[in-house]
Amino acid sequence: MIYDPASLGQTDRYKLMIGGVVPRPIALVSTCSPDGRTNLAPFSFFAGVGSNPMTLLFCPANDERGQEKDSLRNAKPVSEGGVGQFVVNIVPFSHAHQMAACAEPLPHGESEFDLSGFTPSPCEVVSPPRVAQCPVSYECITRQVIRTNPGQPAGGNIVIGEVVRVHVRDDLIDERHRIDQAKLDAIGRMGGPAAYCTTRERFEVPSGRAALGDTPASRPRPPA
Ligand SMILES: Cc1cc2nc3c(=O)[nH]c(=O)nc-3n(C[C@H](O)[C@H](O)[C@H](O)COP(=O)(O)O)c2cc1C
Repeated sequence: MIYDPASLGQTDRYKLMIGGVVPRPIALVSTCSPDGRTNLAPFSFFAGVGSNPMTLLFCPANDERGQEKDSLRNAKPVSEGGVGQFVVNIVPFSHAHQMAACAEPLPHGESEFDLSGFTPSPCEVVSPPRVAQCPVSYECITRQVIRTNPGQPAGGNIVIGEVVRVHVRDDLIDERHRIDQAKLDAIGRMGGPAAYCTTRERFEVPSGRAALGDTPASRPRPPA
């Protein structure tokens, strides 16, 4: 099948997006409003951008009325009425349910920290708290927001942040700054509203020509 997105409704375009772009990492984003109230929400349209400077992005879409979600209202730059700061927290398998609870659309100003039972912990540079239960957190200053369809339902928004502090639980990191993937036990989001995966089954492949050498991954698989 070949689809022209322009001939599909928004819901079907969304299904083709989340069904194929998998697995998606999850950013549990903490922000606070200009009057200091905390907010916490998960976003799987999330990626690293670069390491010089260290930057990452997450994408809070407009809600069904075309309005900005609280995370965007809070994280956008001060010049646009926000606080200009956010924290990305990485969620371990052990806290999948608490993370998913944070997607509850609470009224502006009510905190998902209270709803989920996650513990806020102060950051070093930014005012939103990090999540104490998350083994890795990135404190970010918002550099730019790109809006693909402002004011329209499901319009996309890209929030780009510069990482100013990285918190890693001591038992997860070695002296060469490598994060132990097994101990991190991160989860990802799959193609349905309630579908997730673990990162427990992993394999290694060298890059470039070496990938074509005699490795288990390069050997032909027997027919299923
Ligand atoms: C695992 C997971 C991933 C999500 N990813 C996104 C996303 O990438 N973009 C988005 O707009 N909403 C996403 N949502 C929905 C938001 O979390 C939800 O709309 C939330 O209420 C937004 O909170 P806020 O209004 O406090 O910002 C996701 C929900 C879950 C459970």
